[in-house]
Amino acid sequence: MSTPDSFYITTPIYYVNDVPHIGHAYTTVAADVLARYWRLRGRDVFFLTGLDEHGQKVQQAAAKAGIVPQAHCDKLAPQFQTLWKRLHISNDAFIRTTDAPHKLIVQRYLEELYRKQLIYKDDYTGWYCTFDERFWTEKDVENGLCPDCKRPVERISEHNYFFKMGQHQDRLIDHIQQHPNFIRPESRRNEVLGFLTTQKLGDLSISRPKSRLSWGIELPFDTDYVTYVWFDALVNYVSALEYLSPTPSRDQYWPASVHLIGKDILTTHAVYWSTMLMALNLPLPETIFAHGWWTVDGEKMSKSRGNVVDPNKMVDEFGADAFRYFLLREVPFGQDGDFSQSSMVTNINSDLANGIGNLLSRTLTMIERFADSTIPAVGTPALPELEALIAATATGLPERIDQGYRALAFRENLQAIWELIGLCDEYIDKAAPWQLAKNPENHPRLNTVLNTASRALRLLSALMYPYMPQTAAQLTRQLGLSFDFSKPVPQAAYSWETPLAETKICKGPSLFPRIESKPQGAKTVTTPISLRPGLPQKPKHLGITEPASLRRS
Ligand code: MSP
Repeated sequence: MSTPDSFYITTPIYYVNDVPHIGHAYTTVAADVLARYWRLRGRDVFFLTGLDEHGQKVQQAAAKAGIVPQAHCDKLAPQFQTLWKRLHISNDAFIRTTDAPHKLIVQRYLEELYRKQLIYKDDYTGWYCTFDERFWTEKDVENGLCPDCKRPVERISEHNYFFKMGQHQDRLIDHIQQHPNFIRPESRRNEVLGFLTTQKLGDLSISRPKSRLSWGIELPFDTDYVTYVWFDALVNYVSALEYLSPTPSRDQYWPASVHLIGKDILTTHAVYWSTMLMALNLPLPETIFAHGWWTVDGEKMSKSRGNVVDPNKMVDEFGADAFRYFLLREVPFGQDGDFSQSSMVTNINSDLANGIGNLLSRTLTMIERFADSTIPAVGTPALPELEALIAATATGLPERIDQGYRALAFRENLQAIWELIGLCDEYIDKAAPWQLAKNPENHPRLNTVLNTASRALRLLSALMYPYMPQTAAQLTRQLGLSFDFSKPVPQAAYSWETPLAETKICKGPSLFPRIESKPQGAKTVTTPISLRPGLPQKPKHLGITEPASLRRS
């Protein structure tokens, strides 16, 4: 049984039939945010991602490329691994289902089920969808098309091995009913319950004759067959705990805390995987969370439409943190969303360049100019009401965010963080520190404004870290702090009440330059006013209106 402070998070293992796209990046970034948050909070995290390398799709892709499947997998695997590095994914291990130990473990489980007579051989005739690699029953198929992908199905008759999935139907229904967090969001839970309570759950064909498909793990009890790719793939979540390094232990991490998946693979996880675990006498994961799908400019994303979003391009153009932010800010997790480059640009400009970027830059510029680059201690209240509101908001944020993480409410968390940024901006605008600086009598009030903004930024850096790790590191560096968020940091280090003063700041480049869209959709990145060469660093009006370099662009 997993230990109470362990947190085991997984992504689906991705098919290596093609290069990674935004859908892969989405789940992996979401998992990374959770992993980083729980590590920061001191939990013992194991974060697993990897590749699903067997099955028809991969075999076909390799044939198309004119190479053997293993060579094809070896060629594509680095594309995923490199992308995860570029996106700052902090996975602890990376599984490939062609790893020899994984194959042995799958065979061991198959043996066990076969020995227990939970696998049997039978004839099967049915409608088969090559793309989805699964059989459908008569009533599923409409007009000869697969109900899932709408491609034509074929009539196939063959001997196969079956896993006695159906016998677990009642137990699975009970489990779902008794564990409200097992399948999330709620709408997906209802979907699965609806299907399980109205239809008889059949048995699952877990083999493919080698004559039809050779690229898979051989059945240990019949060498004419390979294992159905889903039976092989799902096992990755436990096999990884037996052989991957840093050596995790199954006792410590299983059952998984969260399996993050897309909505299309909910049945395989909620039904196939759960019943496989029941048959193997292993506990079920705590949560299976199915997120929605991205469309692109309102259309389904597909190779044939030529609108597949390449995460590498997004990193090149906007940076990893901005892309990570956008993915989790744009759509409530669990719902479908639409990707468009223009909404990404709007988002970056309003929330990142004008939001956190500007708050940091104006605060540090003022500390440089009015406080000799050293964060001053709190003086006397400048705007007591707003200060009280900021204090109340900031004090409540860590708990609010914690609840958000437990609910996988990534977007709501970002909204809550950005409320504090908005309040700080309003506070600086109203307190007008550049006015206070004019008169030494107002310096105690000025000090309060500078300190309040700095303390808010310190807290913001910790709250933003899981979403935007590089930005958080830059933010703390510029504030003159030395947090290492990749390790557990006690909340007291950044909580609102903890005093902050006498820290020498180290102002650096702006976090997020504004992006100017060109009419054709191309874009240029402009240098913020305060960094342009040739402009006087101290505008003449300093002390009367907010200097240009402090203003939002
Ligand atoms: N190999 C299986 C998973 C096995 S897990 C034991 C698989 N691989 S996949 O590469 O086809 O898909 C991986 C994930 O990408 C799925 O969770 C799927 O939902 C997700 N997405 C594929 N297209 C997507 C979008 N357009 N939007 C969001 N996610 C999408 O299935």
